[in-house]
Amino acid sequence: MKDKLEQIRKNAMEALKELDDLKQLEEFRVRTLGKKGELTLVLRGMGSLPPEERPVMGQLANEIRSAIEKALSEKTAELKNAALEKRLEAETIDVTVPGKMPRLGKLHPLTTVMNELKAVFLGMGFDVAEGPEVEWDSYNFDALNTPKNHPARDTQDTFYINEDILLRTHTSPVQIRTMLKQKPPIKIICPGRVYRSDAVDATHSPIFHQIEGLVVDKNITMGDLKGVLDVFAKRVFGPKTQTKFRPHHFPFTEPSAEVDVTCAICHGEGCRVCSYTGWIEILGAGMVHPNVLSYCNIDPEEYSGFAFGMGLDRITNLIYGIDDIRLLFENDIRFLKQF
Ligand code: PHE
Repeated sequence: MKDKLEQIRKNAMEALKELDDLKQLEEFRVRTLGKKGELTLVLRGMGSLPPEERPVMGQLANEIRSAIEKALSEKTAELKNAALEKRLEAETIDVTVPGKMPRLGKLHPLTTVMNELKAVFLGMGFDVAEGPEVEWDSYNFDALNTPKNHPARDTQDTFYINEDILLRTHTSPVQIRTMLKQKPPIKIICPGRVYRSDAVDATHSPIFHQIEGLVVDKNITMGDLKGVLDVFAKRVFGPKTQTKFRPHHFPFTEPSAEVDVTCAICHGEGCRVCSYTGWIEILGAGMVHPNVLSYCNIDPEEYSGFAFGMGLDRITNLIYGIDDIRLLFENDIRFLKQF
């Protein structure tokens, strides 16, 4: 038995030297030290030994077992180390290679201009009010003194969801919503996306953006409207900018006006951008019609107000010299990254 044990030790030590991966080591362990391993099998034969030899053999077997275990764990550590070294070597990165710049996004020109305009009005004490893009027909039209069959409805070709619900054609219904739930004084701007079923061309898009404004209080006059719009025009288009009111008609304001500013490109001399008139039309405005105030339970004898509305897309194009509204919606990075 002693010889057998020594033979196992010798074979094991030699076999270990040859092994070079962790799977083989595990197989070796099972084969040599496992429950059905060589060493165990030899020990099972202990029963047939004379009793006085048993402790001696037992001791020898234990000694051999721990010698093999020690060698096995050393070999395991060695192989693991080698594997790690190999991986580290394979995964080295060259820290001197120049980095790749991540592409930074930036604000869309519409957003930039929207933020600028908001800041101008917030500076004059306006609050920002928002409302749904899917709107009641009654808030979009009736409340704004534009009942069904009113010819003015034709000028705002409308996407209807059903008879009572539509995609808002302007942000004026936000003014109605505000007046219905808030008593004067009211001083708000309503920025947002609006929809009209227009064919797409360089100056028309079925989706565009507006900022409308509303002020309602006691003793509000057209002078207040002119003052606010004059400050607005000078802040946005430059301090020398002048404004001009031309008589116009809107159902929801009386009197109404279209407002022009002196051309920011030629300063009134006349150029291609202003069609050689020196002026550029930028918004509609007027004194809130008494019917609109009454609809919202505001007494037109006690209160008066003004309202105005402008197209953000057109103003953005004016500021940046963009000549086609479609460019704002195509999301072509080559175009957008210029701003
Ligand atoms: N709501 C009008 C439009 O979209 C603009 C406007 C607003 C005109 C307020 C006058 C007063 O055409």
